[in-house]
Amino acid sequence: MSIVLALETSCDETAAAVVRDRTVLSNVVASQIDIHRQYGGVVPEVASRAHVEQVGPLVTAALEQAGLTWAAIDGVAATCAPGLVGALMVGLTAGKTLALVHDKPFLGVHHLEGHIYAAYLSEPTLQPPFLCLLVSGGHTSLIQVQGCGNYALLGQTRDDAAGEAFDKVARLLGLGYPGGPIIDRLAAAGDPTAFPLPEGKISLPGGGFHRYDSSFSGLKTAVLRLVQSLQAQGIDPLPLADLAASFQGTVARALTKRALNCALDHGLSTIVVGGGVAANSGLRQHLTATATAQGLTVLFPPLAYCTDNAAMIACAAADHLNWGHVSALGLGAQSRLPLTAVMGLYGEAREIGSKP
Ligand code: KG4
Ligand code: ZN
Repeated sequence: MSIVLALETSCDETAAAVVRDRTVLSNVVASQIDIHRQYGGVVPEVASRAHVEQVGPLVTAALEQAGLTWAAIDGVAATCAPGLVGALMVGLTAGKTLALVHDKPFLGVHHLEGHIYAAYLSEPTLQPPFLCLLVSGGHTSLIQVQGCGNYALLGQTRDDAAGEAFDKVARLLGLGYPGGPIIDRLAAAGDPTAFPLPEGKISLPGGGFHRYDSSFSGLKTAVLRLVQSLQAQGIDPLPLADLAASFQGTVARALTKRALNCALDHGLSTIVVGGGVAANSGLRQHLTATATAQGLTVLFPPLAYCTDNAAMIACAAADHLNWGHVSALGLGAQSRLPLTAVMGLYGEAREIGSKP
């Protein structure tokens, strides 16, 4: 059993949380969305500065809400990869400093492993193996989860991530930032069959299509061409709800088809969804209905654990700590790091302590 205090600063949310294995004791998030909205996207330098201002008060709030003092904390964790390096550095440096000052083991955590662990927070009895469909602003991956730190990448996007497609389509429709929640709300009032759009299939050299990989860049361009053609026909205002619903429905079908192919081909009976796009109501409905009809179980964590948060990072760190995995204080931030390399972040606690 481990109680971990974790920090998450990989992008535009500053977050701190205290978790006991799979039980959330506190979870606080300071979103920077209002700051970045005026620029239409995340400005890395602005994000780093905001993290610096927020991280201290959030650590205090996380401990207070958990009703704990440092004496009760078994380890300190921080997201160390992947993400914006300047932003990651803030949480990582704060986490390592707190670990040093309070004499606790430190663990760097892979952001995507955190998104996978979000599922354990809502389903503490969940056991690997299972399939994780990880759909965020930066990633769209199908991952076979075999155990703590043990992952196989089965499929991914060849270009834009699903969340990135939502954000880009929202921008070209003039809807604002971040695009996912806005398109989701608009789509509720639209007809998903109004405009047929391409699903972004990846052709195989020998014919046919890739069963797991996806592409969203072509879909985004198709929406752009559609909008241009509607405007050329003098259609004003644009049928935004129908456009949003058609786009969202296409993404939901594309992700569902690939996740089902993966789960059925690999004999995995549970699909866990993680990342910000797991909040999407179109994906939730379509994947749940389609997978259930095939006898599969689908788990969507609550929204607060789908988007970036530190509880998922603490949960992953607590599991690693229980296995005796600890990071060196020299661990750096990395903008990119494959999930399959996650065990490179740790050594045995003994080894690290014995290093000169
Ligand atoms: O996981 P996340 O919070 O941050 C990253 O690690 O990227 O995901 C953010 C992404 C953004 O692209 C945002 O537009 C998308 O998740 N998102 C959604 C919804 N809520 C957030 N996309 C579709 N529907 C939503 N309801
Ligand atoms: Zn994320």
